[in-house]
Amino acid sequence: MNASISAPQLLDLHPAPADMRQLVIEGLSRQPRQLPAWFLYDAEGSRLFDLICQQPEYSLTATETALLEQEAPAIAAALGRGTLVEFGAGSARKVTPLLQALADPAYVALDISAEHLAQACNRLQQRFPAVPILGVCCDYSQLEQLPEHPLLSGAAHLGFFPGSSLGNFERGAAQALLRQFRQLLGPGGRLLIGIDQPKAPERLEAAYNDAAGVSAAFALNLLARLNRDLAGNFDLEAFRYRARWRPEQSWIEMALVSCRAQTVQLAGRSWDFAEGEALITETSAKYTPEAFLALAAEAGWRGERRWSDPAGDLSLHLLVQAD
Ligand code: AVI
Repeated sequence: MNASISAPQLLDLHPAPADMRQLVIEGLSRQPRQLPAWFLYDAEGSRLFDLICQQPEYSLTATETALLEQEAPAIAAALGRGTLVEFGAGSARKVTPLLQALADPAYVALDISAEHLAQACNRLQQRFPAVPILGVCCDYSQLEQLPEHPLLSGAAHLGFFPGSSLGNFERGAAQALLRQFRQLLGPGGRLLIGIDQPKAPERLEAAYNDAAGVSAAFALNLLARLNRDLAGNFDLEAFRYRARWRPEQSWIEMALVSCRAQTVQLAGRSWDFAEGEALITETSAKYTPEAFLALAAEAGWRGERRWSDPAGDLSLHLLVQAD
């Protein structure tokens, strides 16, 4: 290893076991049952999600990456200067063209998966030895917990939220999230956000239920994670994965459906599942550019520029603060 390469700084603010337990109890007590999507991302879940991104049916990642690579100089010019803060960085592959194109950047990566985040930050630090890098393992929808840090002090930071991850938050939560981003990025802050658009239902359902079965394995891994972290006894063979387009909500609903009536022990309680009952693992909303900009406006953001792929499958929106 080159001794002149400094190590990235890493902070671990992963939710505590007692908070995870409480969230699981709340989520399983709801009708329909649903947990926060970040529970999907333990180390194995993050590995499986990277594999989903390589499946031919899930074209979102390849399309967005190509768009970022092609437009990086124009995007960097429009973003200007500041610390680049990526929300839900995962393996942080998409940020590379931006770090190459931005003048004198610093980079803060937020992600729920500690191992994945450390690997991504170490890889980026090797590639960009002069860039100050901070990785924070956290639930990026709870930004008030972030400690003061020199890279995040001052105003006018640059937010980066690719992958259409906003779609994993229901409308009210999505607005609250965009408001939190606004606060963290400070006055004059800007946000580059990738948004997937509605398309033919068959195409969307295939993207979330790939032929190789990776999407199904990703969802089922949630049960393995709950068994391990919260003393559960889910039988993974007794649930089947389902992804369906819900046109009224303009979202894909992903769920694990109970194959039979069964009782599961988890978090010190018993949970009855009826045959056919769904545990929703996540929803993934799709927005037209107009619908997305209306949502962003309610959270105090205004669209300044937009880049789309030639087929119009997704858009990268550059948002500025409305007042
Ligand atoms: C992270 N997020 C944007 C993905 C999506 O497309 O909603 C999560 C995903 N789950 C299964 N496939 C992809």
